[in-house]
Amino acid sequence: MDAENEQQHQTPAGSSVSRRAVIGWAGAGVALGAAAVGSVAAATRQDDRAPAAAAAPAAAEVPFYGEHQAGIATPVQDRLHFAAFDVSERATRESLVKMLKEWTKAAAAMTGGREVGTGAVPSSAEAPPDDTGEALGLPASRLTLTIGFGPGLFEKDGNDRFGLKARRPEALVDLPTFKGDKLDPQRSGGDICIQACADDPQVAVHAIRNLARIGMGTVSIRWSQLGFGKTSSTTPDAQTPRNLMGFKDGTHNIAGNDEGTLGAHVWAAPGDGPDWMTGGSYLVARRIRMHVETWDRAPLKDQEDTFGRTKGEGAPYGKAKEFDAPDLAAMPANSHVALAHPDANGGLMILRRGFSYTDGTDGLGRLDAGLFFLAYQRDTRKAFVPLQQRLAGSDKLNEYIQHVGSAHFACPAGVRKPGEWWGQALFG
Ligand code: HEM
Repeated sequence: MDAENEQQHQTPAGSSVSRRAVIGWAGAGVALGAAAVGSVAAATRQDDRAPAAAAAPAAAEVPFYGEHQAGIATPVQDRLHFAAFDVSERATRESLVKMLKEWTKAAAAMTGGREVGTGAVPSSAEAPPDDTGEALGLPASRLTLTIGFGPGLFEKDGNDRFGLKARRPEALVDLPTFKGDKLDPQRSGGDICIQACADDPQVAVHAIRNLARIGMGTVSIRWSQLGFGKTSSTTPDAQTPRNLMGFKDGTHNIAGNDEGTLGAHVWAAPGDGPDWMTGGSYLVARRIRMHVETWDRAPLKDQEDTFGRTKGEGAPYGKAKEFDAPDLAAMPANSHVALAHPDANGGLMILRRGFSYTDGTDGLGRLDAGLFFLAYQRDTRKAFVPLQQRLAGSDKLNEYIQHVGSAHFACPAGVRKPGEWWGQALFG
């Protein structure tokens, strides 16, 4: 199938199935969105300081095809729906490959603002529609879909069920238990993950739901997480978002256009591990509960000492402005930034891309809220693991948080062109 055909599938009536085309007024958004694709992509790749991600029109599309998967270095959207899937015991290598091919086509369509398959309202009323329909009329909303493969895909209970055991990257370690962890198995692990980010939660949820629908019988959702209020930015010129503790989060993060740092710390390079991971990245997901009621009773001084930064401006201790270089000696030695800064860790860096969450209450009158921490790195053994070991040991922040969920995934390089599929290099 050529590019044009794959990207523009036809309705039974012969017209292209674009969600936006369904509603007339949104037509203007198509042109705006198309123009914005170029500007967003160019900003990510070329400019020294990318323009504010928040300024991107909601209709914008983030290109699905490319050297790296979108959703890692591309500008962070407002909303998240993250899903971890288990592969069924009945699945075979063939059924898994078939599903991944279908997923890839659906992902290319949805990230382009189009309906899945023959759409939500096909000509035949005798079968369930290919697309569940709740995103009809909505623009692409900068939807990105990023896939990762968990340890259980390569080997489960000593069983090399898909013949992939020898292809497991050494960097895809079983994460060690860290001090203070209180992990819920129901919110941890998973054989495959999909990170869906978009500016509209309905678009992100629609994407996960439709992939789950396609995968029925082959995979099932193990756990999923909704997120809002991004807590990190890959676009430094955008206003730094605040986390649920009220602090600016993402001030010193890896910028999505900083190719040198991305190459050194985020993308797996040739020779790092198996070839199929070259250009990919390792993702650690941690559900981190915040004891917000305790935090809210802590004096401002304690709160600022926790991070080593001021609450209002976000300036490092001893400095006036948010982006001034931190003087670690001016901060409490057990503050989060003094412990996490690269200068205190032999230069190691991770790309943070987390979101806030609130999932109702815990039955004891407290909010079940926190940070759904997502971090991408070139080799987890040299990044998240030593960093978290250090933080778990002495971070003042530990008085107010607890890690309650954990997962680790190998996210391969991007799908470069139509016809290629997610996992092709791994299974090929
Ligand atoms: C609920 C948990 C957490 C909260 C609320 C939190 C919050 C923050 C805040 C407010 C900053 C300072 C602003 C900035 O530079 O972004 C920061 C920096 C940072 N955090 Fe966290 N964080 C959390 C968990 C973690 C974890 C689990 C890790 C890694 C294992 C981590 C790694 C970092 C790093 C590397 C920096 C940048 C330090 C620097 O270079 O100055 N954080 N975090």
